[in-house]
Amino acid sequence: MRDVNLTDIYQHRIAQKYITRSGIAHAIAVAYHAFQLAKDQGEDVDSAVKAGFMHDIGHYTWYKNGKWDYGLYKQNDIHAIKGAERAHKLLIRLGENPIKAKEIALAILFHTDSFLPGGEVIRTPLQSIVKLADEKDEEPGGAHHYRELDNNRAMKSLQILDERIDEHLQKNDD
Ligand SMILES: [Fe+2]
Repeated sequence: MRDVNLTDIYQHRIAQKYITRSGIAHAIAVAYHAFQLAKDQGEDVDSAVKAGFMHDIGHYTWYKNGKWDYGLYKQNDIHAIKGAERAHKLLIRLGENPIKAKEIALAILFHTDSFLPGGEVIRTPLQSIVKLADEKDEEPGGAHHYRELDNNRAMKSLQILDERIDEHLQKNDD
């Protein structure tokens, strides 16, 4: 039994406000990719999926005159840092195990190199999975942030993924 499910995260007001900002369809797609990758590599599927689902929770809206300003974003963005902290706070509030909350926060912190002044990070397998899962769902021009998915379908997809995680964990327990 896991302490926190994906649907618990999604229903919290912090997730409603910030995950939907950068696109719920993208968040769910990355979570599904993270599940498959973690399963294939024998890594912790629950942490990989949660980090994948929340990886963009730190985004800020860099708009100018009603339009996304890529220049402003490039110059000022710290979404990986903010996201790591925001996801950690949310997980702890929901009752997540603190060791797992830290692992997920670090995977969110290192899902991109965009805020680092020139260095490549040496990632753990879990951190690499989240980065790759994100890249698998990327579309040119950031279009992956704008795909739409209504609330009911989002909930349904997350319930299915929750069930798959539980099944996988049960199987590995036997
Ligand atoms: Fe992303």
